Amino acid sequence: MRDRLLQLEKAALSEISSIKNKEAVIELKNRYLGRKGELASLTKELGKLSHEERPVVGDLINSIRGRIEERVNSLLTAFAQDEREQRLKAERVDVTLPGRYLPLGNSHPITQIMDEVVSIFLGMGFKVAEGPEVETDYYNFEALNIPKDHPARDMQDTFYISDDVLLRTHTSPVQIRVMQGKKPPLRVIAPGKVYRRDSDITHTPMFHQVEGFMVDESITFGDLKGVLTAFLHSLFREDIAIRFRPSFFPFTEPSVEVDIQCVMCNGKGCRVCKGSGWLEILGAGMIHPMVFKAVDYDSERYTGFAFGLGIERIAMLKYGIDDIRMFFENDVRFLRQF
Ligand code: PHE
Repeated sequence: MRDRLLQLEKAALSEISSIKNKEAVIELKNRYLGRKGELASLTKELGKLSHEERPVVGDLINSIRGRIEERVNSLLTAFAQDEREQRLKAERVDVTLPGRYLPLGNSHPITQIMDEVVSIFLGMGFKVAEGPEVETDYYNFEALNIPKDHPARDMQDTFYISDDVLLRTHTSPVQIRVMQGKKPPLRVIAPGKVYRRDSDITHTPMFHQVEGFMVDESITFGDLKGVLTAFLHSLFREDIAIRFRPSFFPFTEPSVEVDIQCVMCNGKGCRVCKGSGWLEILGAGMIHPMVFKAVDYDSERYTGFAFGLGIERIAMLKYGIDDIRMFFENDVRFLRQF
């Protein structure tokens, strides 16, 4: 019995010394030390031994088990460590490599001009208001003193949704909506989309406007000139020439169109300004008493001015773009330049 045990130990240890992988160690461990393993079956034979021999051989079995177990466990630890090292090597990250660049977008040129215009007016104490793009005939025309037979109401210019509902053709209806809900003093700008049935190299069916207006006791035409001059100097150039030309809008009286000196030729006359040296940049005027009447303001007490400008037109002049459709084709080669 003792010889068989020592032989078994010898066989196990020599097998262990040439073992190559974790799986083989586990298999060996089961074969020698498992519940149905070789050591276990020899242990069963202890019963056949004499009373004196039994504890001695029992001790031997335990010490053999201990020695084999020790070798097996140290091998398993070694294999586990090996495996870990392999994995660390395979997953190695070079933290000194530069990161990958994510392409950065930029805001659309129209958005950029819009933001610039809005921020100039915010700096002068104006507050931003908005109104719906789907409007009623009342807000878009009637309350703005645009009579039923005015050409702006023509099917040619306006997108009608029904007899009474339409896509707003300008941002002026926001004047009415704001004045209906608030009392003067008011200093408001209203940026947004507007729609007209028009399409060529300087017109698209949708474009952007910024409306502005100021209402209080004793607002004068001088305030209109001062505010718009400060605005245009800030947007274009501090020393750009500006002129106010008499014009007509049903909702302002008197009305003006405001021109700046041509930014392309500095007033000498070119293709862009059609030889005149001037560019029309916005429409404005003193708010008509009929408009105040529509919102229940006392036009004996309050006066105000309003203006409206087209963002695409300003963007075209500022960047020297001659086809408005470029803004809406979304060609990244074009958009990336801003
Ligand atoms: N609403 C006018 C337009 O779209 C512009 C404008 C606004 C003129 C306010 C005067 C006062 O053409």
